[in-house]
Amino acid sequence: MNRTLTVYESEIPALERHILSVNDIKTSFADNCIINANLFDCIDYIPNGYFHLIIIDPPYNLDKDFNGTKFTSMKSDAYEDYLRSWFYGVCDKLAPNGTLYMCGDWKCTASMQRVIEERLTIINRITWQREKGRGAKNNWKNAMEDIWVAVKNPHDYYFDVEAVKMKRKVIAPYKVDGKPKDWEETESGNFRITYPSNFWDDISVPFWSMPENTDHPTQKPEKLYAKLILASSKPGNRIFDPFLGSGTTAVVAQKLGRSFCGVEINHEYCLWAVKRLLNSIDDKSIQGYADGVFWERNSLGSQKAAKTAKATKQSEQAIVQPLLF
Ligand SMILES: C[S@@+](CC[C@H](N)C(=O)[O-])C[C@H]1O[C@@H](n2cnc3c(N)ncnc32)[C@H](O)[C@@H]1O
Repeated sequence: MNRTLTVYESEIPALERHILSVNDIKTSFADNCIINANLFDCIDYIPNGYFHLIIIDPPYNLDKDFNGTKFTSMKSDAYEDYLRSWFYGVCDKLAPNGTLYMCGDWKCTASMQRVIEERLTIINRITWQREKGRGAKNNWKNAMEDIWVAVKNPHDYYFDVEAVKMKRKVIAPYKVDGKPKDWEETESGNFRITYPSNFWDDISVPFWSMPENTDHPTQKPEKLYAKLILASSKPGNRIFDPFLGSGTTAVVAQKLGRSFCGVEINHEYCLWAVKRLLNSIDDKSIQGYADGVFWERNSLGSQKAAKTAKATKQSEQAIVQPLLF
């Protein structure tokens, strides 16, 4: 079933009421806002030192049509100047102990590293093995993205590794004295809870059968941003995304109890973001994240089995409990 988000004409007036303009934020700035504007026109009206986390997914150095606004590939020097033109201003928005993530592909990642290091300290580089990508006859298929991790103060930043643990199927179930060594035997299979590395191969791009999917050409998966947000912010913290697109940062922030501010130049993308936000009031699920852990790709069957086993156990306990008294 195609579950790609659709905004109907009749919904637009109600959705538009949630979108702010530059003039709105000039008079007063409030949390949890979607600003439909050119970043260059509104950056001065967003408070400095305010955000605990900033997630940036800018136009990459590629020819790309964002709903009529075309980005054109350029020489690396020119692309670095483009990055500088907004990056310094965005950095000013980061709290002194804040963290900033920036996504890029093989072609623009070196430029990003250089520009980020002009203002912040890079503490890691995550490589996301992105499944989707065009196969090319004369080149290797592009199936990876980088996510740079940078902080203002390398001696004072927040990182909660416990919040981003992974649940992986055990291939070789090693036992000591007949008992599982560092893994768990369950009705839905054998699993190990592990700490994440900086190579991520457990996240697919959103596609048509997922409710989070929109027609945005470069939408990021909610699962990917959930990892960034859980590791690098506390509940209640403030998160900024200067290139919001279809609203992934805002939606995941809301689902995880953080506040958000996003800027997006395209009006239709803002409508999609607002509709996703409204949908997420009732549905806080994030595909691939359940019971406080991140599951592997294509593990929906195991997740459902685990949920059923948990529900069965709970109902058995409910029946057994009265007999105890
Ligand atoms: C790579 S996409 C971000 C996608 C987003 N992470 C998501 O999950 O949907 C970059 C976005 O930046 C927007 N954009 C480009 N230049 C902009 C500008 N000067 N001000 C605000 N938004 C801009 C584009 O319209 C596009 O939606």
